[in-house]
Amino acid sequence: MKATAVAHANIAFVKYWGKSDDALLLPEAPSLSIALDRLLTTTTVELGAPEDSLRIDGQQASDAELRRARAVLDAAGIRDRARIDSRNGFPTAAGLASSASGFAALAVAACAAAGQRRDERELSALARLGSGSAARSVPGGWAVWEDRDASQVATPDQLPLRLVVAVCGQGPKPVGSRDGMKRSRQTSPFHGAWIEQCRRDLPEALRLLRAGDLPGLGALAERNALRMHADALGSDPPLLYWEPATVGCLHAVRRLREQGTGAWATIDAGPHLAAICAPSDAARVEAALRAVPGVREVLVCAPAGGARVVERSSDARDR
Ligand code: PMV
Repeated sequence: MKATAVAHANIAFVKYWGKSDDALLLPEAPSLSIALDRLLTTTTVELGAPEDSLRIDGQQASDAELRRARAVLDAAGIRDRARIDSRNGFPTAAGLASSASGFAALAVAACAAAGQRRDERELSALARLGSGSAARSVPGGWAVWEDRDASQVATPDQLPLRLVVAVCGQGPKPVGSRDGMKRSRQTSPFHGAWIEQCRRDLPEALRLLRAGDLPGLGALAERNALRMHADALGSDPPLLYWEPATVGCLHAVRRLREQGTGAWATIDAGPHLAAICAPSDAARVEAALRAVPGVREVLVCAPAGGARVVERSSDARDR
């Protein structure tokens, strides 16, 4: 049995950086994200293979990635061996590969291939076991993740906006988010304050989102991202995810604001920067980020929905 699902990557406005349970991947604080249309992963799961295998954009994945995929299948009660093929519709060579869209698409495709009927919350909880932020890519839109699963709190069209993503580096990041957040939790003197800040930021972000206040929400997202990086930088050894182009983009976003264009920055655990802006400002923001030395590519993304099955077959020849 075989099924294909798609899922969008998401970018958090209130970020997840710290687990309360490392084995169960439960977050210390709630997070809020929006799914992005152009960052799409398509994953096909074929059950009944002679052994488990995982290919990402045609390349065999590492043993660690395969183990994480197996953990999702095990949690779904799927014992058949699986051939998993995952393709990203965005430049992964540039380091934009997304575990969020990948594990969300995997959970949805695997359950469909196994003929399981699971609701969105169960699928979200399964995706979480691959990567925490994947829990939010299952419901898509504006998603809140508080404990075992995430749910959509507002549709993608709640607030007209664009995320202008500047690709500021290449290759895998030096410390993955799983190890990075563990290090921050164990060694950063700022970590407790960071977690408390997220607990305050979530209700405020939801209020601004419902009020349609893009400047308020953009400013909150920028503060939240910089505080997450302050926590990471305060770790021992320090976690520096930025490249020179990242800092160049931060200044470019600040200059845009000084010139009257509403744009706010957010950065995940990597070098890339996403500028939040109104759709009518996206072209100006894109041009400003393209002009920053070291920026390799710029993608303008719009809000998107959740993960979904796009194909399912149980042809005997597929077994
Ligand atoms: O899902 P993970 O384990 O890759 O963690 C994601 C962490 C951040 O991207 C930095 C923040 C977030 O909430 O997405």
